[in-house]
Amino acid sequence: MLVIRKYQNPDDREFIRKICCDSAFLGEPAERFFDGREILADLLTSYYTCYEKESIFIAELDRQIVGYLTGCKNIKKQKRIFMTRILPVTAIKFVFNGRILKKRNLLFLYNCALSIWKKEFFANDFSSEYPATLHINIDRRYRNTGIGKKLICEYISYLKKEKIAGVHVTTFSVNAAGFFEKMGFNVLGKKSVSYFNYLIHRKLLRFTLGRKLINE
Ligand SMILES: CC(C)(COP(=O)(O)OP(=O)(O)OC[C@H]1O[C@@H](n2cnc3c(N)ncnc32)[C@H](O)[C@@H]1OP(=O)(O)O)[C@@H](O)C(=O)NCCC(=O)NCCS
Repeated sequence: MLVIRKYQNPDDREFIRKICCDSAFLGEPAERFFDGREILADLLTSYYTCYEKESIFIAELDRQIVGYLTGCKNIKKQKRIFMTRILPVTAIKFVFNGRILKKRNLLFLYNCALSIWKKEFFANDFSSEYPATLHINIDRRYRNTGIGKKLICEYISYLKKEKIAGVHVTTFSVNAAGFFEKMGFNVLGKKSVSYFNYLIHRKLLRFTLGRKLINE
């Protein structure tokens, strides 16, 4: 039986960190571009698991965890905490454990720096109309069975109870963009980014999609 429940225990944290890294490179394992799972998992998930646990939803099928949705009610708060607490601590770890000197990481950092220079990381600010955001990930063995839809529905009704005006999401996956459109999101913008060009030899599109929740 499928159950959607709130985040509860250390097993949930480990699952989120693992699945997130297993699919961090356009659905493939993070090792394609980055050496150091702990560092990447800290950057991608620790805001949710340390600062906003109440907005995490876990999908369990027959008592086995098969998917998660990490939510955030206020992206401005998330960005502030990320820049002032998570990024500095993780950067220190990254330097002092020597991971920064790994060839794969240097190559990735170099390509990120080029992207920053080309202003590709710049994104429109949707925080007033769509203050909430989310990440969702289903274990690949259980995709296309309705689990993503159930997680989104739980999260949307939670946001409505909390009187949040809207929610937006960013993704590089055309499939995920199709899924979000089906879930009532509209495309707010598309932007071409090049920082994975050296691995996939094509430009990627970053989709931003949003759904307004007031007057629904
Ligand atoms: C994207 C993702 C969350 C979707 O979850 P899922 O459990 O596979 O999707 P569901 O089975 O719940 O699909 C729900 C509905 O969306 C539809 N749908 C799914 N993918 C779609 C697509 N690419 N285009 C159009 N509709 C799509 C399904 O047909 C289904 O329709 P229905 O309600 O009429 O039956 C999942 O594939 C995933 O984890 N992908 C990898 C991580 C990722 O890309 N996350 C998004 C970035 S944060």
